[in-house]
Amino acid sequence: MSVISALPFLKPVHLRPPRSSAARQRRHTLPASEFRCLTPEDAISVFEIEREAFISVSGDCPLHLDEIRHFLNLCPELSLGWFEEGRLVAFIIGSLWDQDRLSQDALTLHKPHGSTVHIHVLAVHRTFRQQGKGFILMWRYLQYLCCLPYVRRTTLMCEDFLIPFYSKCGFKELGPCEVTVGSLNFIEMNYDICGHAFMRRNSGC
Ligand SMILES: CC(C)(COP(=O)(O)OP(=O)(O)OC[C@H]1O[C@@H](n2cnc3c(N)ncnc32)[C@H](O)[C@@H]1OP(=O)(O)O)[C@@H](O)C(=O)NCCC(=O)NCCS
Repeated sequence: MSVISALPFLKPVHLRPPRSSAARQRRHTLPASEFRCLTPEDAISVFEIEREAFISVSGDCPLHLDEIRHFLNLCPELSLGWFEEGRLVAFIIGSLWDQDRLSQDALTLHKPHGSTVHIHVLAVHRTFRQQGKGFILMWRYLQYLCCLPYVRRTTLMCEDFLIPFYSKCGFKELGPCEVTVGSLNFIEMNYDICGHAFMRRNSGC
């Protein structure tokens, strides 16, 4: 028996064909997993996920392409994307709001002096759902918001069936939302960032 076959765990290392320089470069330039704020250049990828997640189901979506571009131009720092090998797999888009509760205006406006982050949309690409990605992305987003000194809380509106998901993420129900879209009604949910002031002061961000 040769030394190699006696040590089967070594085989893959010795038998793997050498990587081409292009493959090496791709591996170098496209990290397996990356979290970063979105840019207007990501708008099409965002919309593709929305198209599948919402338009194919209900005929409409939280943000249309021009609105995605609008918010990614105005407040890209309130978005977060999860990329796997350069491909967008999940995202959050937020903007600032300056009232206690959401109103119809909140769907289209960014209030630069507000201290509430209104999360317009969280969506995970179809093939990556039910793997914990939505929860992890929200968790990272909330941690990130703790580092923004002007943010005191974050709010969102969701349909009843997603209340358990957002509750698991730490959101509390505020009650029915005054905003309606077509025949859809929503519950408004809140996450208090102020409670993390100590963490913010001591996190070095
Ligand atoms: C909702 C969404 C963001 C959750 O992300 P995800 O990565 O699939 O979720 P996770 O794997 O982190 O968590 C799974 C939990 O989400 C909840 N959930 C996800 N989709 C749900 C659905 N359609 N109905 C009810 N609960 C759902 C459940 O609580 C589930 O927990 P369970 O596995 O114990 O049942 C994702 O399913 C999605 O993009 N859906 C389409 C777009 C959407 O509805 N976005 C939210 C409104 S803006």
